[in-house]
Amino acid sequence: GAMAEERPLAIVTCTAPVNIAVIKYWGKRDNDLILPINSSLSVTLHQDQLKTTTTAAASRDFTKDRLWLNGEEVDVGQPRLQACLQEVRRLARKRRGDSSEDVAPLNLSYKAHIATQNNFPTAAGLASSAAGYACLVSVLARLYGVEGELSEVARRGSGSACRSMLGGFVEWRRGERPDGKDSLAQQVAPETHWPELRVLVLVVSGEKKQVASTAGMQTSVDTSPLLKHRAEVVVPERLKLMMRHIRERDFEGFGQLTMKDSNQFHATCLDTFPPIFYLNDLSRHIIALAHRFNAHHGSTKVAYTFDAGPNAVIFMLADTVAEFVEVVRRSFPPATNGDQFVQGLPVGSAVLPEELLAAVVTEPVPGAVRYILHTKPGPGPQFVDDPSQHLLGADGLP
Ligand code: DP6
Repeated sequence: GAMAEERPLAIVTCTAPVNIAVIKYWGKRDNDLILPINSSLSVTLHQDQLKTTTTAAASRDFTKDRLWLNGEEVDVGQPRLQACLQEVRRLARKRRGDSSEDVAPLNLSYKAHIATQNNFPTAAGLASSAAGYACLVSVLARLYGVEGELSEVARRGSGSACRSMLGGFVEWRRGERPDGKDSLAQQVAPETHWPELRVLVLVVSGEKKQVASTAGMQTSVDTSPLLKHRAEVVVPERLKLMMRHIRERDFEGFGQLTMKDSNQFHATCLDTFPPIFYLNDLSRHIIALAHRFNAHHGSTKVAYTFDAGPNAVIFMLADTVAEFVEVVRRSFPPATNGDQFVQGLPVGSAVLPEELLAAVVTEPVPGAVRYILHTKPGPGPQFVDDPSQHLLGADGLP
């Protein structure tokens, strides 16, 4: 319309969550479209503790697309970033073509400025690409007036990102089609479904450079017979089981299967040639600790899972948190490095019974766990209405 020329700067801000898989995605059947060899299932974590915030602005005055990551300008030429940008703009054109109304008054030829930032230290090695691409796609879609199914677009940024487009418990269906139109995220249950479920992220010290997921899973697809068996036989069975455990809020079943699936993912890494090691001595120490804790209680009280890095993610019910945090504190006495040892949701105090201490806390490793982040399942991407929260100024710069 006539007003469009007067419109100054179109600007949108959004936040998006991290997710942690309980049935792991590992391996692609199409590298460009990011189509997986198996379906996966994750829990979306609460954004009060872990989130990415992204602002995107578009203006006639911008001469090229630009991106700032935690204040530093980065190259917008990366193919996955380009795939997301192009895909949103293509959907916007399509939508405009389909509609007689002025659905997206923004001129699609306008370039975008994008600024993105995490509320957690990038150095902590917490999966940030999933939240990052989910946030980018959400914000661009709103900016260019695109609605509807967007997990397919987020998937083009990073496979696991499609699961961060929804809250609660989320399945990424592998799909059958070669064009990926049916490889989408779907909510299994909302975050309110299991109110007692809690998550502890054990952020470990002294991590080194890992083999990146993208490269690692490609080598696994090329060389691991175990991964092939997992994708074809094990995961389809486990997915059905896991959905039932979630539906029934059965922590015993959920926890057992979460641990087994993490272990099988790491087994496929060892079965990769040359082998990939994401678990280290500390991961194995944490795994053994969880099993001793469960054995002491005679049931599954805590369930660990590890991705392509050394941090441990541990699921439990709310009534176990205080005791288990105390077990972690005794097992990994904190170094006084200035970090608050327990961060996130409040944790009550617990006094450990002598027999639990004797049975579970065997060889303490001082300083091995940098801090614990206490969180819970949470919602999907959220738009931010407060203009003071924008990461770009009126000039379109950070
Ligand atoms: C071990 O989604 O990071 O965290 O699709 O190549 O970007 P790309 O890989 P990415 O892989 C995540 C692998 C995992 C398991 C999971 O999140 O399901």
